[in-house]
Amino acid sequence: MAIYIPEEKLLEIRSAANISDIISERVVLKKTGKDLVGLCPFHSEKTPSFSVSPVKQIFHCFGCGAGGDVFSFLMKHDGIGFSDAVSSLARRYGIDLPTGDMTPGQKKNISERQQLFDLNKQVLSFFVSRLASRVEGEKARAYLKKRGFSQEIIKAFGLGFAPDEWDSLVRFFQKINVPQSIAEKTGLIVPRKNQGFYDRFRNRIMFPIFDVTHQVIGFGGRVLDDSKPKYLNSPETIIYNKSKSLFGAQAARNKARETGCVYIVEGYFDLLAMHQHGITNTVATLGTALTAEHVRLLRRGFAQKAFLLFDSDEAGLKAAQRSVSLFMNEAMDAVVIVLPKGYDPDSYMFEFGRPAFETLSEKAAGMVEFLIESAISVNGLSMEGKVRIISELTGPLSEINDHVARSIYIQYLSERIGVDESAISEKIQAEGKRAAYHQPVAQSGHPCETEPQTDGENAISPEMNRLEKHIMTMMLKFPGILPEIKKRRVLEFFSDKQLIAIGALLLEHPVVTQEDLSGLMNRLASPDDQRIIASLAICDDCWDYETGDKLLCQFLNSRQRRQGSLLNQIKAAEKNNDDTLLFELLRKKQAQRANR
Ligand code: CTP
Ligand code: MN
Repeated sequence: MAIYIPEEKLLEIRSAANISDIISERVVLKKTGKDLVGLCPFHSEKTPSFSVSPVKQIFHCFGCGAGGDVFSFLMKHDGIGFSDAVSSLARRYGIDLPTGDMTPGQKKNISERQQLFDLNKQVLSFFVSRLASRVEGEKARAYLKKRGFSQEIIKAFGLGFAPDEWDSLVRFFQKINVPQSIAEKTGLIVPRKNQGFYDRFRNRIMFPIFDVTHQVIGFGGRVLDDSKPKYLNSPETIIYNKSKSLFGAQAARNKARETGCVYIVEGYFDLLAMHQHGITNTVATLGTALTAEHVRLLRRGFAQKAFLLFDSDEAGLKAAQRSVSLFMNEAMDAVVIVLPKGYDPDSYMFEFGRPAFETLSEKAAGMVEFLIESAISVNGLSMEGKVRIISELTGPLSEINDHVARSIYIQYLSERIGVDESAISEKIQAEGKRAAYHQPVAQSGHPCETEPQTDGENAISPEMNRLEKHIMTMMLKFPGILPEIKKRRVLEFFSDKQLIAIGALLLEHPVVTQEDLSGLMNRLASPDDQRIIASLAICDDCWDYETGDKLLCQFLNSRQRRQGSLLNQIKAAEKNNDDTLLFELLRKKQAQRANR
């Protein structure tokens, strides 16, 4: 953790920022007692084990162990550094960060993301003003009008126009004095072969892409005629990650949370058409296939059920096949809405309207049923057709981790095409093994955190570790015991180095109030230390002197039983001339004696 931001500032930001608000923007939370719970955004799970404590201002996942304070949540969730987490919260809550004491490198670090957000916002206004310009924007306005889009929708989504010139944005950046190095990072201008830059987007309708907190992270642009490429998108930047971003997310979230459903379409105009027809719980993928991260974000932050509107062509079918396991593995219900051939949501909405669309969506089939039925209608039920159906479906079915769900689908398929269930199962199992062999990499997304690793020399038995954590919890929850911990030199008997360091800090800065807990979080150097503290602090257990004393005796006794082995270790260290180890072991020995 960089420490150039004064501690008072961190505390100020921390007390202004409410962890429940920040996390609620990204995860749907439900109140249970004093805490809020939801599905953990950091690992795949089907029942909520992610807790947020508004009182303690920490979060903790009982499933994967992730935890910490509001800063570590943002760092982990948004994939940003500490200084970015601090600066984004400071900005959001209107707190000025003192930049006077920072080195230029630090200043640059703290502001680069923010500069890009600011710049994108200015570019958004630039494109909007070009669309509004009487002469320059005329063709683009006419195009949008011809496609039926209303002024309200155009305004609500910040649609704009990139002029038909090679350098209108380049000149705009010069006019507002943006350093070239920053301008380039937006990805909106491209270096020329020799010297200088040119505009990436020319003569295109521009769609700003927002994140859920309404910051502009990138742009897409469509030509006004049949020229190619029809769509262009910003390249990925430090603020734009395509596999995590969804077009329209900022506008869809509230309605999605209210209704529990979200519609997923493929195109910019499809999304606008859905919104214009009142189906505002709609998001769009952006020229990329739906990813596990998209599904996780939607399931955590939007809704339990997805309505998929893939194109009804072969590519759409392939897309559906690929996505089955994504939804299954996140326990998100997914149904597929089939539009008549040749239609996409945009053309369908404008031609048939919302009531017809709603009738269709009521008839939507579950995703696996959809796959099975489309495989049947494509291949037919001849012998060869059945063979092809099974071979098309083994992949998607083998990726379903839930055994019960899988066997239900296999049974359905077997009855539907009249092939023995066990034959299909065998094929699927073989496919599962083959895939596991060829793809040893775990599924994408955040790696699930595990218990802290300890090296062999410092290996701790689970029981020991449990006791040490228990004592640490007591130190955190019951500062009255701290003098006893000091007196009996308890920490010297700990084997977990991380806990020893945290414990030493606790002895110096006891946690009595909520501010003390925040202060402790500030002092902890690594997110991993914060994770430990959050996991200990989240439980609401009560301590008194007597139980505390019992625990300490139990711990110290069990440590003393290991004394024999300590003596052996000392002998070994002497033999190996390992002075450092020897010194440490002797100190431990001495501490044990003092406790007797
Ligand atoms: N797309 C893209 N790059 C392309 C083509 C498509 O990024 N060269 C993305 C866009 O987000 C687009 C979506 O894929 O909106 C769907 O593409 P397509 O079906 O070809 O276009 P439509 O959305 O139907 O576009 P329009 O109605 O404007 O023709
Ligand atoms: Mn279209």
